[in-house]
Amino acid sequence: MKDAAPQTIYLKDYRPFGYHIDDVHLTFRLSPEATRVVARMSVRPNAAYPGAFFLHGQDLKLIWAKIDGAEVTPDVTDAGLTCDVPDAPFVWEAEVEISPATNTALEGLYMSNGMYCTQCEAEGFRKITFYPDRPDVMSVFTVRIEGDLPVLLSNGNPMGQGDGWAEWHDPWPKPAYLFALVGGDLVAHPGQFTTMSGKDVDLNIYVRPGPDEDKCAFGMEALKRSMTWDEEVYGREYDLDIFNIVAVDDFNMGAMENKGLNIFNSSCVLASPETSTDANFERIDAIIAHEYFHNWTGNRITCRDWFQLCLKEGLTVFRDQQYTGDQGSHAVKRIEDAIVLRSHQFREDNGPLAHPVRPESFIEINNFYTITVYEKGAELIGMLKRLVGDAAYYKALDLYFTRHDGQAATIEDWLKVFEDSTGRDLTQFKRWYEQAGTPRLAVTEDFKDGTYALTFTQTTPPTPGQDTKAPQVIPVAVGLMSDDGTEVLPTQVLEMTKAEQTFTFDGLAAKPVPSILRDFSAPVILQRDQTNAERAFLMAHDTDPFNRWDAGNALARDVYRRMVTEDAAPDAAYLDGIAAILRDDSLDPAFRALVLSLPSEDDMAQDLADADHIPDPTAIHHAGEALRVAMAQHLQDILPRVRADMAINGPYSPDAKSAGKRSLGNACLALLSRLDGGAAAAAQYKAADNMTMQIAALACLLKIGKGADESAAFRAQWREDRLVMDKWFGLTVSSAAPQDAAATADRLTAEPDFDMKNPNRFRAVFGALAGHAAGFHDPSGVSYRMLGDWLARLDAINPQTTARMTTAFATWKRYDSNRQAMIRTVLKGLEATPNLSRDTGEMVGRMLGDTPS
Ligand code: BES
Ligand code: ZN
Repeated sequence: MKDAAPQTIYLKDYRPFGYHIDDVHLTFRLSPEATRVVARMSVRPNAAYPGAFFLHGQDLKLIWAKIDGAEVTPDVTDAGLTCDVPDAPFVWEAEVEISPATNTALEGLYMSNGMYCTQCEAEGFRKITFYPDRPDVMSVFTVRIEGDLPVLLSNGNPMGQGDGWAEWHDPWPKPAYLFALVGGDLVAHPGQFTTMSGKDVDLNIYVRPGPDEDKCAFGMEALKRSMTWDEEVYGREYDLDIFNIVAVDDFNMGAMENKGLNIFNSSCVLASPETSTDANFERIDAIIAHEYFHNWTGNRITCRDWFQLCLKEGLTVFRDQQYTGDQGSHAVKRIEDAIVLRSHQFREDNGPLAHPVRPESFIEINNFYTITVYEKGAELIGMLKRLVGDAAYYKALDLYFTRHDGQAATIEDWLKVFEDSTGRDLTQFKRWYEQAGTPRLAVTEDFKDGTYALTFTQTTPPTPGQDTKAPQVIPVAVGLMSDDGTEVLPTQVLEMTKAEQTFTFDGLAAKPVPSILRDFSAPVILQRDQTNAERAFLMAHDTDPFNRWDAGNALARDVYRRMVTEDAAPDAAYLDGIAAILRDDSLDPAFRALVLSLPSEDDMAQDLADADHIPDPTAIHHAGEALRVAMAQHLQDILPRVRADMAINGPYSPDAKSAGKRSLGNACLALLSRLDGGAAAAAQYKAADNMTMQIAALACLLKIGKGADESAAFRAQWREDRLVMDKWFGLTVSSAAPQDAAATADRLTAEPDFDMKNPNRFRAVFGALAGHAAGFHDPSGVSYRMLGDWLARLDAINPQTTARMTTAFATWKRYDSNRQAMIRTVLKGLEATPNLSRDTGEMVGRMLGDTPS
């Protein structure tokens, strides 16, 4: 029943809906395969934009429809219904039947382990009832749920409940994508919060009865921290009597900000020291904050249409990044964010899936919840803040909240707020939202008669559908160092607006060493001829922690690349540089751990491709292994001492300081394992009393081809814990030798607890295979074919997760013609799959270059 030719939707075609929905009453009679939904809404023609009365609807069985109490016969298609309606306010009513138990797409109303739950963003509400399922239609929802389940939840405040029913009312007008419903046998982990104006709010985290009940405490504290933070930093207070979070095992994404009823993938909310790593704790803290922050940036002010997605997501990611920085170290958080952006967003920008932060067209909006919209979107907020300054930024945000509260807004509205409150013209800045691709910023320097000049040139390569690019506004934070390591000019933000621009610095006694793009002040690729000696100097002396790390990273890439292409020995400048950092006890352990970590194999493949080499993933893998051995040998006297210094006595705490120590200790262990045959790792595995230490030890062992006993013991110990088992599935694949990766994944799919319907489990296995560069790109093509086959099967079950995972192939044009031919065959095969979803069809089409987006 798929459309023959999927339609492309264009931003330029936006038109408001022809009607207002003043309120909507929904009644649910829950039943696994025959849930009945009655919708009653007050409709009023939109005099300014008259239009047909079209309601979206998908996979719905219409039972009846009425206008002002009289039955009507609408015209129903597989996309929705159209009906003749009065040219005056009227009441629309309709009853539909849906089948949550057979809804494996996990969109709309579905069941997970006997529990009813919903996921409506972006366009899932249309699978629940006929409705104008678009974010610019906001209405006041009242919900009655009938069902034989102890807990029945929806948005807003509880209005009443009894045996087998509950009623909820949300006073805040909202778009349908923020609707949520949950029904199940659940227990609440309760909490309390008093807002800045003295209002009491009940907080709950709902889980299924059993072991999950002991994994809610951290999430509850994270929620309270987030609520306090948004009051203190943005002056934003919560606006309902109750805030509920529900943990669900089957969920396509991480979490969803439904008004007053956030629904979370259980992996993104449940935590305990025994079962969760430091990285899990940090992510859970950030994601709870993120979804909570959406209450203002997304819910109170929502998006006019889905092209404006970055309005809520970019801003909310920026806010959660600020929050995480405040919990620990801003420098470390900035480095972590830059690593993700440069590895994944730059890669997206560089290939067939490149698109602007605000796209101009899409076939399936779910395919545009991308790292570009999210992470580059957040970078644009950060650049604005850097350009206008902190005080002006928060002043503009206050204006944004007062001016647009209760509205469905656009990027134009957002920029206008900044223009009005700062007096700046942001016409050129807007290009950041419109132009895809990563700007290359080339720098040359000149020194004469005490004047130092930096000349910058910006160019952005063509991206699908965009051949030429205009210059963008680039805030370049620069500091100058003297060659004895002191700073002669503290950080200044240079504002680059032209294609080529020179900035001069007078009165210098000697030629300085520049530190450019401090704090990663713009999402660009800095291109500079720099010697390794200069990199080593900045790695040792830069006062900007980001650039200090980045200099080390640039050195590592150079060393690593020459090991691949020239079989060179690792540069002493690099090894001495990391030794000095490792030894420096005045530095934050988390920072030292980052300096010790190498670029990923995929990063190296990209670097090589950029330097016009065809990357050989196997050679990259072996060079990386050799580099790690060389590092271990060079650092062998320091590693045990630093590792011992990082030991923590006493009970586990996930705080940033303790996590940083474990991170450095485990980075040392990973290197030590290359020297001691795994003795230290085996001992750590035995002694571990928390998941961070346990799984780090196991990973060290598996990476050196040992640890079979520990892996079996781990599986036996954690067999009943599905979140820990996801880690085990993933680690088993990612630590396999390259030539064994596909066979390992294949073997795991035959395990009784492999369940392709559960996105976490499917991703554990196949996300790990796709992320295992040398294994995925095995020259035989076995991994390509295996992933292609599984994606074709998954598409019939869950199109969203399938479409997302096709991005494993997005870098295919980097590789040699054999690999390209094999991947093309897989993509073509996917494209020809009978009844392929719109989601997957669009992704495969874009990767094959069929449709410029
Ligand atoms: N609104 C999204 C969830 C969502 C994404 C719904 C795609 C429908 C389609 C939510 O706020 C979100 O962004 N979640 C992220 C995590 C966040 C910390 C960036 C996620 O689910 O990965
Ligand atoms: Zn979000």
